[in-house]
Amino acid sequence: MTIKLAVIPVAGRGTRLLPLAKSQPKEMLPVGRKPIVQYVVEELYHCGLEKMLFITGPGKTAIENHFDLDPELTEHLRHTGKEELLAELEFEREKIQYFYTRQRKQLGLGHAVLCAEPMIGRENFVVALGDSVLGIHAASKVVRQMITEFEKKSAAAVISFEKVPLQDVHRYGIAAPKEGEEVQEGHIFQLSNIVEKPSAEEAPSQLAVASRYVFSGEIFDYLKKTKPGKGGEIQLTDAIQAMITDGKKVYGLSISHADRRFDVGNFESYFEAFLEFAFNDPDYGLSIQKKMRELLK
Ligand code: G1P
Repeated sequence: MTIKLAVIPVAGRGTRLLPLAKSQPKEMLPVGRKPIVQYVVEELYHCGLEKMLFITGPGKTAIENHFDLDPELTEHLRHTGKEELLAELEFEREKIQYFYTRQRKQLGLGHAVLCAEPMIGRENFVVALGDSVLGIHAASKVVRQMITEFEKKSAAAVISFEKVPLQDVHRYGIAAPKEGEEVQEGHIFQLSNIVEKPSAEEAPSQLAVASRYVFSGEIFDYLKKTKPGKGGEIQLTDAIQAMITDGKKVYGLSISHADRRFDVGNFESYFEAFLEFAFNDPDYGLSIQKKMRELLK
């Protein structure tokens, strides 16, 4: 059976976004018209995923409320003659099942993913970071492509990568493609290693993890054995590295510009994401672009 379940870690505190994310989850920040986490769910749903398991933490209940049905609001819009606004709530009725569990200690991304094990067991699944979306307005179908490759190759993992400037490699998990593998945009390649947040000197390439992963349930065995790594946290990257060392087949998919990653993890990337989504707004995109051009003159 093809993969239907996505784990969406949203437990991080968003300390790089203070004071903005002090009392609201960073995943609820708007990029254009929608909170980024809604775009994440839409991206996954359009790639065939129907079960969303959020790994939450303190202060994240706004995410659960957002995806819940809101009959009072629906009634209010009907009664006040604002039926046309009901279309904006249609996402509430998609054929998606939502599940939530809490990461009770902030021990890192690897530990957050491990919190999903009781629900997933040995099934294959997707991990999609809740503060990042692929493609403008979540238009990317990269996750579908990753699932197809994962199944075709009977892989242990397939991970999306995006080329980043050398001065940014220290912010990401970085790929070491297998020797002799040519990495072309939109293509799959085998990994010989992956390193969490290396310095520019140590980085094996400029290919950074682009926030989407497909895993077999075996990843949990490796996560359980993973000791705290960079920043004292249990790193997902380290568990993947152990899988590769064990001879498991782990692949990367180098995403194209059209599938590029937008994230709200820090102010610079958040501002960029917001602007680009607003510039592409169906109603106001062109007028905003025009205003910006005037401002920049
Ligand atoms: C996490 C991962 C890292 C990855 C990044 C963006 O880091 O640990 O490997 O490159 O997400 O997808 P974080 O941004 O949570 O520090």
